[in-house]
Amino acid sequence: MRVTVLGAGVIGLTVADELIRRGHTVAVVDPHPARGASYAAAGMLSPAAEVWHGEEEILRLGTASLALWPALADRLGVELRTAPTLLVGYDAGDLQQVERQAALVGGLGGRATLLDRAAVRACEPVLARVAGAASLEGEMSVDPRAVCAALLARIPVVSGDPGGADVTVVATGACLPEPWAGLVRGVRGEILRVRSDDPPTHTVRGWVGGEPIYLVPRGNGEVVVGATAEEHQAPPVVTAGGVHRLLTAGRTLWPGLDRAELVESTARDRPATADGRPLIGPSGADGVVLAAGHHRHGVLLAPLTARLVADLLDGAAVDPSVDPRRLITAGKERHVDHAQR
Ligand code: GLY
Repeated sequence: MRVTVLGAGVIGLTVADELIRRGHTVAVVDPHPARGASYAAAGMLSPAAEVWHGEEEILRLGTASLALWPALADRLGVELRTAPTLLVGYDAGDLQQVERQAALVGGLGGRATLLDRAAVRACEPVLARVAGAASLEGEMSVDPRAVCAALLARIPVVSGDPGGADVTVVATGACLPEPWAGLVRGVRGEILRVRSDDPPTHTVRGWVGGEPIYLVPRGNGEVVVGATAEEHQAPPVVTAGGVHRLLTAGRTLWPGLDRAELVESTARDRPATADGRPLIGPSGADGVVLAAGHHRHGVLLAPLTARLVADLLDGAAVDPSVDPRRLITAGKERHVDHAQR
């Protein structure tokens, strides 16, 4: 088939890569490749650390996609960091949150091993004295910018739609075209990048006095400190308050942050859906497939999304839990039909 993929973020590029591998002719369209949410993404491949009550399906989808990451990273020649995620509670209240999360993960069939203060110190000595943690074995991280750069080295991207496609895959994250725009809302995330000669060696996700925070180390001393989450209508900008919250929680958990070089602050919109699950599959309009709305999980779910979209084009049934039609109301469907006519 001739396929146009709208959007050259981590989702659009992995979808395009998989479609090309399966023999389709693909054009990727994006005036600013890899500069959307993928540019801010920390790259946690953490289905257990990122699953919340009410979004349990993310663990199943994320675990399935995590299993596809080693082969993808190998093929692209990008590093996968494989130390387990530490889910850390700074004080007693934060530790209760960790224990609730560990119980949720255990109840869903995942693995979370509780660590006391001394065990956390032995495992990650750069952290402050924390109340305790859970170790999430099998989780990983990857540098999304390196992933996108490797994909962009293989896949040409054009700035305007060449037309003539049999199928269009819409992978434009938080900015969907009509009539689907209302299916996704932007949730601003602000992150900092710092460089340290004493970084953590694990992805650390946790709470400090109730404030969620994560530290994601790269191989070169860089650490991503994230992330705020705010629903808003305005363009995503880095705010003084957001930076303050990240630095306050980050340096409490990792005192060495004070000595790190502040390299960058970035804000982007996460593409959130009403039920927290992505939109992967038929759009309700002939020849248009959605691959969007991945909220906090775009990097993790990229290889699974690519497989699901390619399978769909090969005639497979859509996974009902991510089928976009679950969120397309009768009114919207009428709107789509009208747009088609
Ligand atoms: N997945 C990390 C974030 O959305 O901040």
